[in-house]
Amino acid sequence: MQHDSSGKIYLVTGGASLIGSHLADHLLARGAAEVRLLDNYALGTPDTIAHLEGEARVTRLRGDILRLNDVIDAARGADGIFALAGFLTIPMAANIPLGVEVNTTGVVNTLEAARIAGVRRVVFASSVAAYGETRADSLTENLPVGLSTASPIAAVYGTTKLLGENIGRLYQQKHGLQFNALRFASVYGERQHERAMNANAIAILHDQILRGECPVIAGDGREVHDYIHVADVASGCLAAMLNGTGGDVLNLVTGEDTNLTQLVEMMLDVCGATHLRPVYREDTRAFRSAGGERLCFSPLQARERIGWTAKVPLREGLRRFTAWREARLGVRPGLPA
Ligand SMILES: NC(=O)c1ccc[n+]([C@@H]2O[C@H](COP(=O)([O-])OP(=O)(O)OC[C@H]3O[C@@H](n4cnc5c(N)ncnc54)[C@H](O)[C@@H]3O)[C@@H](O)[C@H]2O)c1
Repeated sequence: MQHDSSGKIYLVTGGASLIGSHLADHLLARGAAEVRLLDNYALGTPDTIAHLEGEARVTRLRGDILRLNDVIDAARGADGIFALAGFLTIPMAANIPLGVEVNTTGVVNTLEAARIAGVRRVVFASSVAAYGETRADSLTENLPVGLSTASPIAAVYGTTKLLGENIGRLYQQKHGLQFNALRFASVYGERQHERAMNANAIAILHDQILRGECPVIAGDGREVHDYIHVADVASGCLAAMLNGTGGDVLNLVTGEDTNLTQLVEMMLDVCGATHLRPVYREDTRAFRSAGGERLCFSPLQARERIGWTAKVPLREGLRRFTAWREARLGVRPGLPA
């Protein structure tokens, strides 16, 4: 399987995103000739890609995926498009009309731009939210989804991702575009923002530990998530771009369920704060992503189809994440933030 992108030109929509910034690093490290980062900064900030300042192979483009011409101009001459621009559940709940439009019309525009500009390959950022509350011993990509019982915002977000997946499949069928959709699990890592519920919970935990407070767990601690480090997501996006045959919808997951109690224990250990003990409180969160006590997303198809597996263990990912946050905040555990 191919793992480098030597000499290639890529467009990343939502280029100032958490995932886009790591994807840019990954593409550059693997020899890309040019990485175009298209963003209207509706949510992301230039800070996220500030470390790429001075990198001659990076082109920053201010543009809106709701304006077709912006995407066509950005796509001309590109070998592939990573369609990352989108609204996660928290920003979507804050602006439902815009969130739905970006996640649907914005994706149609991206595919249409690929068609018009003659770009052959598109990799689309979908989400495990597309499963809703589907339950199975192993959650594989071909299972019917269970969105009707998910919370309204999780269901709407998941529906926009399903729509994106299927519009992409339609473009593949009708226009011969090679399209892959990747269902990311809960992405966390350096340059984390506050727009993703589950990763945000990790940052809140970290803040409590930095203040020397006992970390608070919402509920009984048995809710699980599949936490995936953003560097693994970036490598999965490139693996799909290089090795995907098109038409596949693939989970980009670790396959490991971690419950909130385990997460907190690991964070305390990573932060050297095991003297603090978790406190369980009634779950009063305004929003919850589709969770439960068991998820079991299967990583097998991604391994078979694009030769990708997640490599960063959660403990190592949390170490990188907390080190980045502490350097940014200028604090050490136990000291006031
Ligand atoms: N972070 C996660 O846990 C996660 C999980 C599953 C799927 N995803 C999907 O992956 C993608 C990237 O996630 P992220 O966490 O890096 O997102 P993010 O919120 O950091 O970035 C999204 C980017 O899209 C940009 N954007 C929004 N509207 C735009 C428009 N009209 N035109 C151009 N740019 C626009 C924003 O400014 C922002 O920089 C999203 O589509 C998201 O739904 C993320």
